[in-house]
Amino acid sequence: MRAIEVQGKGKEATLVLGAAPDPVPGPNEVLIEVAATAVNRADLMQRRGLYPAPPGASPIIGLECAGVIAACGSKVSGFARGDRVMALLAGGGYAELACADAGSVMHVPAHLDLTQAAAFPETYLTCFLNLFQLAAVPQGGWALVHGGGSGIGTSAIALLREAGVRVAVTCGSRDKVDRCLQLGADLAINYREQEFPAVLREATGGEGVDVVLDSIGAPYLAGHLECLRIGGRLVWIGLMGGAEAPLALGTVLRKRLTLIGSTLRARSVAEKAELVRGFLARFGKALDAGRLAPIIDRSLPLARAQEAHELVDRSDHFGKVVLTVRE
Ligand SMILES: NC(=O)c1ccc[n+]([C@@H]2O[C@H](COP(=O)([O-])OP(=O)(O)OC[C@H]3O[C@@H](n4cnc5c(N)ncnc54)[C@H](OP(=O)(O)O)[C@@H]3O)[C@@H](O)[C@H]2O)c1
Repeated sequence: MRAIEVQGKGKEATLVLGAAPDPVPGPNEVLIEVAATAVNRADLMQRRGLYPAPPGASPIIGLECAGVIAACGSKVSGFARGDRVMALLAGGGYAELACADAGSVMHVPAHLDLTQAAAFPETYLTCFLNLFQLAAVPQGGWALVHGGGSGIGTSAIALLREAGVRVAVTCGSRDKVDRCLQLGADLAINYREQEFPAVLREATGGEGVDVVLDSIGAPYLAGHLECLRIGGRLVWIGLMGGAEAPLALGTVLRKRLTLIGSTLRARSVAEKAELVRGFLARFGKALDAGRLAPIIDRSLPLARAQEAHELVDRSDHFGKVVLTVRE
C-alpha cells in the first residue's frame, strides 16, 4: 500500500509518500480502506522523533482515520465489510489501509462525509475523556480551553456547548477570537492582548472556573491556580509552552485543587473501548443529529502531508487539517 514515510531526522525530518506492507487485522480488529486521515499536533512531534509509537502500534504516523471496512477479524461483532467508519488509532492513519481495534471504531453518522469523519475521533474523544470523564465538568459551570482555534479547541467548544457548560478559550489572533465566538464560545480571549486570569475572574464574578483543559503547561501554571475556583480541576494534555514550573502548593491546598496529567494514545485498547462506549452513551444522539461536527480548515491530498504539517506548525489553521487518501 502507499503510506507516508519519514525521511531525515529531527527538525530536518520530512514526510514523503512511499510504500509499506499491507497491515493484517488481528481477531479483534477491522481493516479499513482509508478515505482520509487528519493532522494532530502530536504527529508533528512524531515526525521529529519526539513521540514514538507505543509498543505494538503501527510506526506510520496518524492517530485517526475514516473509510470503509474491507475486512473484519474473526472475533469482531457489530461491524461488517462495507461499513462507513471512523477510528481512533495508536498509529497508521497516513496510509491507504489501517487496522483498528473494533472498540476504537465508530460508525460514521449520515451527515458526515468521510473527509469530515476523519477529523472527528482524536480531538472529540480527547475532549470527552479529559473534560467530562476525568475533570467532571458540571453543567452550568465554566471551562477554560487554550488554543480555541485548534482541533482540540473547536471540538471542546462543540461538546461543552452541547452539555450546557460555559466555555472560555484563548487564541492568538482577533480572527480566531471572532471565529470561536461564532462557534459558540462564551468568551474568547486574545492572549496577545489580555491576561486570561483577570478576564476570567471578572467573567465568573470572582468565583473562578471549574475546569481548565491545558495544552500550554509551564508558562500558564500560576495563572491557572489563580483562575480556578475552589475545588477546581486542571488537566494537562500538552506542554507546548514548557514542562518545568514552580508550583504554589499552598494555593493547591487552600483551594482544594485537583491536578491531572493525561494522555490518550498510550491507553490500552480496553480503556479506549470504554471511552468510545462512554462517549456514544453521552453524546451519540447529538452526533447522529448533526450537532457535533469537526471544523475543517482544509483538505490536502496525502502526498502533501509535509505541507500540511508546516501549516499546522505555524498555527495558520482554524480547526482541523485533513489529508485525503482516496477520492
Ligand atoms: N494528551 C492527549 O491525549 C492529547 C490528545 C490530543 C491533543 N493533545 C494536545 O492538545 C494540544 C492541541 O492539539 P491539536 O492537535 O488540537 O493542536 P493544533 O490544532 O495544532 O493547535 C495548537 C494550537 O495551540 C495554540 N497555541 C499555541 N501557543 C499558545 C498559547 N501560548 N496560548 C494559547 N494557545 C496557544 C495555537 O493557536 P494560536 O494561533 O491561537 O496560538 C494552535 O492553534 C496539543 O498540545 C496536543 O499535543 C493531547
